[in-house]
Amino acid sequence: ADPDSLQDFCVADQTASSISVNGFPCKPASEVTSDDFFFDGLTKMGDTSNIFGSNVTGGNVLTFPALNTLGISMNRVDFAPGGVNPPHSHPRATESGVVIKGKLLVGFVTTGNVYHSKVLTAGQMFVIPRGLVHFQKNVGVRKALVIAAFNSQLPGAVVLPFTLFASTPSIPDDVLTRAFQVEEKVVKSIKSKFSS
Ligand code: GLV
Ligand code: MN
Repeated sequence: ADPDSLQDFCVADQTASSISVNGFPCKPASEVTSDDFFFDGLTKMGDTSNIFGSNVTGGNVLTFPALNTLGISMNRVDFAPGGVNPPHSHPRATESGVVIKGKLLVGFVTTGNVYHSKVLTAGQMFVIPRGLVHFQKNVGVRKALVIAAFNSQLPGAVVLPFTLFASTPSIPDDVLTRAFQVEEKVVKSIKSKFSS
């Protein structure tokens, strides 16, 4: 979904702070080395000891600057048994993933509120059309691992529990009580789970 590149590469210069562009300015080609084009960041298991029991490790332009202007990125997602990657959407990319290990329920909902889901095991792929709300849950008894690919160097993630109940400043309680048709104490209870 990102724009096409106008040169072979444009390794991001994350330190160029005085200039604002769509993406990042390029590091001078004379300073680019082979190391720029390789990234070790997805080799390690993410820490799943959190409220969701999952962890997303990003291989995007922020962590792997050589992806700048190339329109792609990948995530590693680790899951403890029972762990959930909570409902979220990516405003700038379609996502396709492959289960590397474990047993994963993958689901998404269309703009017409149709729910599509399947339980996948190692080697099986899924696709989440751009912008649609989706989740994964480890329904196996062991750890699970998925590698996801995106057609954006920085797909962005709108993580619904945080977006709705942990924004800064907060969405007013009366908006959420009306939207979800629950008592204010329910909204307060959910908010309290996500406040740090
Ligand atoms: C999984 O859905 C991910 O966004 O990494
Ligand atoms: Mn996703």
